[in-house]
Amino acid sequence: MTEHVKTEIVDGVMTLTLQRPEKKNALTGAMYDALSGALKQAETDASVRVVVFQGEGDSFTAGNDLADFASQARGEDSVDSPAHRFIETVSKASKPLVAAVQGNAVGVGTTMLLHCDLVYLADNARLSTPFVNLALVPEAASSWLLPVRIGHARAYAMFALGEPMEAAAALVCGLANAVVPRDELRKRALDAAIALTKRPAGSLSLTKKLMRDHQRIAAKIAEEGQLFKERLKTPEAREAFAAFAERRSPDFAKLLP
Ligand code: COA
Repeated sequence: MTEHVKTEIVDGVMTLTLQRPEKKNALTGAMYDALSGALKQAETDASVRVVVFQGEGDSFTAGNDLADFASQARGEDSVDSPAHRFIETVSKASKPLVAAVQGNAVGVGTTMLLHCDLVYLADNARLSTPFVNLALVPEAASSWLLPVRIGHARAYAMFALGEPMEAAAALVCGLANAVVPRDELRKRALDAAIALTKRPAGSLSLTKKLMRDHQRIAAKIAEEGQLFKERLKTPEAREAFAAFAERRSPDFAKLLP
């Protein structure tokens, strides 16, 4: 377990709070494993009816820890990564998932929202999926789910240009249920979660199953995962991670794909 993810269960709601605000809640392997473990517990624990994701500080999450990506690029970690395990677990969750998102939600911070059932955004929320800027490819089945949700053109601009989407636009595009003032965010998400705990759990789980094409999602996750793993080892990706660490812009011009 890690001190960077807090798990609480109160009145049927499991709340998972990312607690690494000094690093914008960037997700380490230990954090992914803590989230996966909690989601697995939620599946079998009858006292949990709904799961809420939220983050401490000014960002929901800056996505995968880029130092972890850099070490995977150097081949120091297994590529059956905690991140991949988390993506598989969140995509298979049978209980309702609710997200409360403020500030930046980068990479998996945005793609995991495509697996949530209710999404509440603070008015300063900013969703971004800059996979190509990092010389990577989309993950979490987002290469399929995001264009289906918001259209190809907008999804492509988010993936390929790294264009962020502000809260108001995300609401219009169908990525969220509501935009609320920052200080009302957690209450709004919790109220929705509590309302779900009062609905019949069997009906909720079947409704979610009917609404999601699990087989197709799993196939997309596997296809993306293979390419993502290959991309992590490329000179382009190594340059992108080095540039972030050195606080400079990457220079891809002289590199081979
Ligand atoms: N991995 C590791 N550390 C991260 C991080 C990440 N994904 N995102 C932010 N941090 C760290 C920064 O290195 C910095 O650490 P330091 O104080 O020790 O130098 C700290 O968090 C604060 O980040 P900073 O960039 O100064 O904050 P900001 O408010 O100016 O910008 C972001 C916030 C999220 C826009 C910016 O940090 C960012 O773009 N992060 C990278 C996001 C990313 O590409 N994620 C991967 C997606 S696949």
